Amino acid sequence: MSETFQAVSASSEGDYLLLAIETSCDETSVAVVRNGREVLSNIISSQIETHKQFGGVVPEIASRKHVESITLILEEALREAKVELEDIDAVAVTQGPGLIGALLVGVIAAKSLALALDVPLIGTHHIAGHIYANHLIGDIVYPSIALVVSGGHTEIVLLEEEGKFRIIGRTRDDAVGEAYDKVARALQFPYPGGPCVDRLAQEAAEEIVLPRSWLEQDSYDFSFSGLKSAVLSEINRSRMKGESPDFSALARGFQQSVIDVVTGKAIRAAKEFGAKQMLLCGGVAANRGLRERLSSLCEEAGVPLLIPPNKLCTDNAAMIAAAADLKWRRGQYSSLDLKAEPILSLEEWSV
Ligand code: KG4
Ligand code: ZN
Repeated sequence: MSETFQAVSASSEGDYLLLAIETSCDETSVAVVRNGREVLSNIISSQIETHKQFGGVVPEIASRKHVESITLILEEALREAKVELEDIDAVAVTQGPGLIGALLVGVIAAKSLALALDVPLIGTHHIAGHIYANHLIGDIVYPSIALVVSGGHTEIVLLEEEGKFRIIGRTRDDAVGEAYDKVARALQFPYPGGPCVDRLAQEAAEEIVLPRSWLEQDSYDFSFSGLKSAVLSEINRSRMKGESPDFSALARGFQQSVIDVVTGKAIRAAKEFGAKQMLLCGGVAANRGLRERLSSLCEEAGVPLLIPPNKLCTDNAAMIAAAADLKWRRGQYSSLDLKAEPILSLEEWSV
């Protein structure tokens, strides 16, 4: 990653405004954030209705939609924040990981703004954004463990200190949100079906018990593809017997298996690394069952838990500003040859 380092921290000059852009997948979002934590605006334009008819995100369509909306969303973000472009002190943008065509739209917009306004550009890691969304709602205490659960990622991240990321566990196949969406499709829900499976699981009277994928005893990694196959096999088995599958019992079985494993591993990590705080983040952090279970396990373990409100859990630009602030305060800026990176290491992005 190309970065230029400046010796003087920009934070010494008082109030500052970061403008952040997020276009890594199917949300076009622009935010204006004061002093890294105070969200003045966070405009999100979702493309879900467009992608729904295809059962998932179509990358080429996502890029075109970002091009159509980026300028409008930028104007709206400035209007809502009641600021002018000239008031902006730095421009942050999701550099990766994500869909290359989608990322490019945001990166080009951010570079143009930074150049025209003559302010620093800060290339930002999408997952650092999900994690630091928590900094918009509370103080982060280190060491902390972040449980990242989204449509594209499932990771347990150790933060020994501010801005230092160490991935101690990751999925070996599907991300948890991806597994939710695939199971939802089998249960005949439209994309993205995660919230529908969550609702059905909450309402279910019965549960079909499904396997738990713990992997090796000391591993913090995850695997969800076997669980997804178990749901599909149960549906096939019922149909072969001429019965209609019990979708709600299956949704509950799936959800319980996911929750047992992700919360079990996150709590074990918190204990092993002496975490003073647990941070839940990513789109699946909106899951009610997951929030409730993690809250009670954290309480039992004496580890305070932060969970952002739903709007800050799913993709949004305010979280990108919150992560970019780590670099802004250290004067670590990107150069104007910044590239969109579909694969980008979180650990290397550390401050
Ligand atoms: O973080 P996000 O907005 O996008 C990525 O960066 O991937 O996460 C979107 C994912 C989708 O897979 C969606 O189905 C899932 O989050 N999701 C949920 C819930 N709400 C959103 N999954 C389970 N339960 C929910 N309540
Ligand atoms: Zn995301």
